[in-house]
Amino acid sequence: MALLRSARSADSFRRVSVAAEQDSHVVFRDVHMSFDERVVLNGLSCVFPRGKITAILGSSGSGKTTILRLIGGLVRPQRGTIIVAGHDLNGASEHDLYAVREKLGMMFQGGALLNSLTIFDNLAFPLREHTRLSEAEIAAEVHRTLTAVGLSAVDELLPGQLSGGMIKRAALARALLMKPEILLCDEPFSGLDPISVKRIEALLHRINEQMQVTILVSSHHIPSTMRLADQVLLLWNQRATTGTPQALRSSDDPIIAEFFNEEVFDLPEGAESERREGSAHAPSVGAS
Ligand SMILES: Nc1ncnc2c1ncn2[C@@H]1O[C@H](COP(=O)(O)OP(=O)(O)OP(=O)(O)O)[C@@H](O)[C@H]1O
Ligand SMILES: [Mg+2]
Repeated sequence: MALLRSARSADSFRRVSVAAEQDSHVVFRDVHMSFDERVVLNGLSCVFPRGKITAILGSSGSGKTTILRLIGGLVRPQRGTIIVAGHDLNGASEHDLYAVREKLGMMFQGGALLNSLTIFDNLAFPLREHTRLSEAEIAAEVHRTLTAVGLSAVDELLPGQLSGGMIKRAALARALLMKPEILLCDEPFSGLDPISVKRIEALLHRINEQMQVTILVSSHHIPSTMRLADQVLLLWNQRATTGTPQALRSSDDPIIAEFFNEEVFDLPEGAESERREGSAHAPSVGAS
């Protein structure tokens, strides 16, 4: 189990990182990210292994979405290095970021489909913008991808006419259309019934196995992520810890055990953030 935690000395931390980085698709080195006074990541160093599924777990506001947005170059850190598929994002121009984003599929929290476009046009949009495919080829590609996520007869529907689970699958289809190397999924299970959760879980598993896509999933849904993930990045109590799901689950570290304690985590919606807002420190994680 590779534990990356604040207690490590800088030197031992670097040695762990160098060994792990060789097989990684995304690397964070000492990344600091604040929004005004709010420190979100305070020296985060971790790696996301190529071809594996990493789940990012942590309470609301711990920085899960921020990590995905940093990888997409949608926000920039104040300090530190982020390497995505071999590209160092430090100082990358918008043009450089475009090359990085071509390798990424992003499934945003809430779907982020364009409400005024049909599902077909939502999916056709990136193909029309970024490829020279004919309309017939685009239609074939859109339908192939919709079938892969278990959707049919949705071409003419608007996003507002789909159920929550269907929206998630349509968003996943759109993220997959450009055949990404790395798939970023922000809360793919939130707001879904148990059957839809299982369905998305199975889909992500299949995409990872069949297409060798590196997948990062941010989630509050512990059972699914623990089944799905090869590695977990846990943002909890001002600390970042990585390990296999089994290793984290059975950790005797009281802080990690606290996270997996159902009494702490199974709070009603909203209670978690209320509790956090009452605490004295802004959530931050890292090695410094
Ligand atoms: N663009 C922004 N401007 C200001 N603050 C931001 C911005 N984006 C994120 N934050 C703040 O950063 C912190 C981390 O946000 P983030 O969205 O990464 O959390 P999260 O772990 O994804 O939470 P959730 O589980 O609720 O989705 C929050 O306190 C949030 O208010
Ligand atoms: Mg989030």
